[in-house]
Amino acid sequence: MPVLGSCGICWSMEDIRDQAHLSADAVKGLNFIKNSGFFEFRKYYRSGLRSHIFEVVLTEDVKRETRGEIRDGARMFPKARPQKMFRIFRSRFESKDDIFREIRKYKLLLNFLGKEFIARSEEFIVDYRGTGVSRIVLCGLQEYVEGQILDPWRLSGKTPLEDLYRDGEKNRPGDPAKRARKHVAEFTGRVRQLIRHTGYIPDLAGIGNLILTPMGRLKLVDINNIVEIRFDPVIRLDDRGYPSCDSSVEALFLLESRLLGREIQSRDPLFRHFLTPERQKKVRLLEREFYKAL
Ligand SMILES: Nc1ncnc2c1ncn2[C@@H]1O[C@H](COP(=O)(O)OP(=O)(O)O)[C@@H](O)[C@H]1O
Ligand SMILES: [Mg+2]
Repeated sequence: MPVLGSCGICWSMEDIRDQAHLSADAVKGLNFIKNSGFFEFRKYYRSGLRSHIFEVVLTEDVKRETRGEIRDGARMFPKARPQKMFRIFRSRFESKDDIFREIRKYKLLLNFLGKEFIARSEEFIVDYRGTGVSRIVLCGLQEYVEGQILDPWRLSGKTPLEDLYRDGEKNRPGDPAKRARKHVAEFTGRVRQLIRHTGYIPDLAGIGNLILTPMGRLKLVDINNIVEIRFDPVIRLDDRGYPSCDSSVEALFLLESRLLGREIQSRDPLFRHFLTPERQKKVRLLEREFYKAL
């Protein structure tokens, strides 16, 4: 959106990283986007706080979706499946080294979780000149993960995974809920390895960060947020003011206890430190503050 100077003259454009919403048309006009006509950008219906997210779909798929096509004598309107997810990060970086440090976080996650458990991404730096000056901006082209959000705080009932898959398509081979349980066990095991070896935990708490695919795979899609775990009394807030370390530890606990039926081990140093009632009460208050400020 143009920014007006005090004299009313339009003197610059607002940086895309500060804009609450960025339209697909605006993306097409960005200096670092090649508008070839083969692809379309579409605003993704889910969004986050740290990035603008767009589906990259084939133009011919969009045409098929809107005009329809005749299949077995009936006109069908098949939904265009994203080829990739395009992400523009809102974070500001002072230098290329800063960006490389950010990308290394993703590499660390990839090494420990493996490509089965994260949405793989090709991250790249662009020279963004929309405000009249050159700025380095981090972008990513990420694997599209189809599925439903797994929210660790909304796992109620005796069989939460079965409930999540109950209303799904009936023609999935095998038992996706059973497969999902196996994958959740593998995923949490790998997260624990990451914690043990590096002292970092991925952000498991952000809304929509974990996706369960129709086939029962679990994938972390928010792959740039990892938080250092410090065993001290301070409840640290991330750059957005969210207690992401404490909440991620709690998310891990919820996944293990509610989906895998694991008893909380009173000797587990992670849970013993972070999940005390007094600390959790403070975390709840901080979370409330965070949501109030949105
Ligand atoms: N590769 C992806 N495939 C499918 N959905 C995605 C993908 N990346 C992000 N999303 C969805 O977009 C929303 C925001 O993503 P997220 O990675 O959490 O962004 P942010 O970094 O801004 O928090 C979430 O609901 C998430 O499920
Ligand atoms: Mg997120």
